[in-house]
Amino acid sequence: MSSKKRQLVLNVFFQRFGHHLAAWRHPSSTGTGRPDLNWWINAAKLAEAAKFDTFFIADFIGRSGEITPNTGRSSISYQFEPFTLLSAIAGATKDIGLVATVNTNYDSPYHVARKFTSLDHISGGRAGWNIVSSFGEHTAKNFGLKDPRAHEERYERAEEFVNLSKALWDTWDDDAFDHPDRKAGQFYDPASAHPLKYEGKHFSSEGLLDFPRPLQGYPVLVQAGNSDTGREFAARVAEMSYCSATSLGVAQDFYKDVKGRMAKYGREEDQLKITPGLSVVVAESDQEAQDKFNELQQLVDVSNFHFGGFDLSAYPVDGPLPDLPYQSGDNGKGRFQQQLELARRENLTIRQLILKFRVARGHLQAVGSVKTVADTIEQWFVERGADGFNVVPPYLPQGFEDFTRLVVPELQRRGLFRTEYEGKTFRENLGLHRPENPNTARDPQRKTA
Ligand SMILES: Cc1cc2nc3c(=O)[nH]c(=O)nc-3n(C[C@H](O)[C@H](O)[C@H](O)COP(=O)(O)O)c2cc1C
Repeated sequence: MSSKKRQLVLNVFFQRFGHHLAAWRHPSSTGTGRPDLNWWINAAKLAEAAKFDTFFIADFIGRSGEITPNTGRSSISYQFEPFTLLSAIAGATKDIGLVATVNTNYDSPYHVARKFTSLDHISGGRAGWNIVSSFGEHTAKNFGLKDPRAHEERYERAEEFVNLSKALWDTWDDDAFDHPDRKAGQFYDPASAHPLKYEGKHFSSEGLLDFPRPLQGYPVLVQAGNSDTGREFAARVAEMSYCSATSLGVAQDFYKDVKGRMAKYGREEDQLKITPGLSVVVAESDQEAQDKFNELQQLVDVSNFHFGGFDLSAYPVDGPLPDLPYQSGDNGKGRFQQQLELARRENLTIRQLILKFRVARGHLQAVGSVKTVADTIEQWFVERGADGFNVVPPYLPQGFEDFTRLVVPELQRRGLFRTEYEGKTFRENLGLHRPENPNTARDPQRKTA
């Protein structure tokens, strides 16, 4: 266990207009659907000024070509490709961690390992990788992939992808290029290179990475998944977990379950930060916050509703949910299953389900005064439902400005959250170990170099 005092982790997950279904229609919402780099840079700077740990970019890669009468009625996130965006943000910030999502179904480990190495150096040691393996039918078509990959196979492939990436990052000693001997004409010591020859089930690679080891050793490894396989993957591989829970009990079960799986892999529990999604509408008083939230809720279009991949627009919106044929283990369905069970238990109609859970996309929704919101955050943190949160601002920029202006100072006042960044790298700020290069460790000559 690290000696560092347990401290709240705060990540922010931006979507251009916000996460609430009606965010783009809110009176304070401005701008068009055209990508706007300055908007993203300002958002990252705001998060950094509030001392957030992470600026996270999701990537739901690809689009369906199916055009229906409802197409175009939602603001789905058309946004920048993560590496290029985060490289630009890296130049405009200096402390905040930068997490890019990469899907392991549509890329190759060599390509991805070098991009993360590059981002880590560009940002001075602030790169993180949200490892996803979702497999939407339309994305497969976008990429011309014919055979659907089963859930288990995707996770197996994801893990091999990550292992090979790590092996590629380890092909150079950390200091391989730090000692050019101009007099002797020796740019680097050949003993600092550790070529690999890898032949696996899904990938193979031979040779060296064409870039020095990441400053952090490896980028911070993040995972988002709720299935049993996803949880095992998090316990074995991940250093941060994005998850979703709408009640403390569900969050505590997830927290205990995933952390409880780590010991068998020789991992310490504090080396995985569990950060459920949190959507906040905050104001000076509970009533004022509720009024703000109601204003958003009234803008929700309930006629165009998809739930867990099912189009429910043909069903009466004030009637009960129809039977949905979920397959356990299907991609991402664990999360919808949770909401479905809650909806059934509470006898919700389709409209009530939308307004209660889907507006925050299945994440915890906190609406209230500073005290109300900070109490919820503190309770989840202290009672081990979370190590921190992945803040999903409901509408932007106001929804996040309110959070940084009102909630962050209160969390700092309570001693739960930092007032200054403590470390130089993303890892250091999170209190995560820096992975040693196992190849250097095996070579005593280089270790003393
Ligand atoms: C907060 C959060 C962010 C996610 N971001 C992405 C993403 O950017 N791209 C993606 O393809 N899937 C994303 N996912 C989906 C998961 O990574 C994962 O692929 C899916 O939930 C399947 O995992 P499971 O079957 O283990 O539940 C996200 C999930 C959560 C909870």
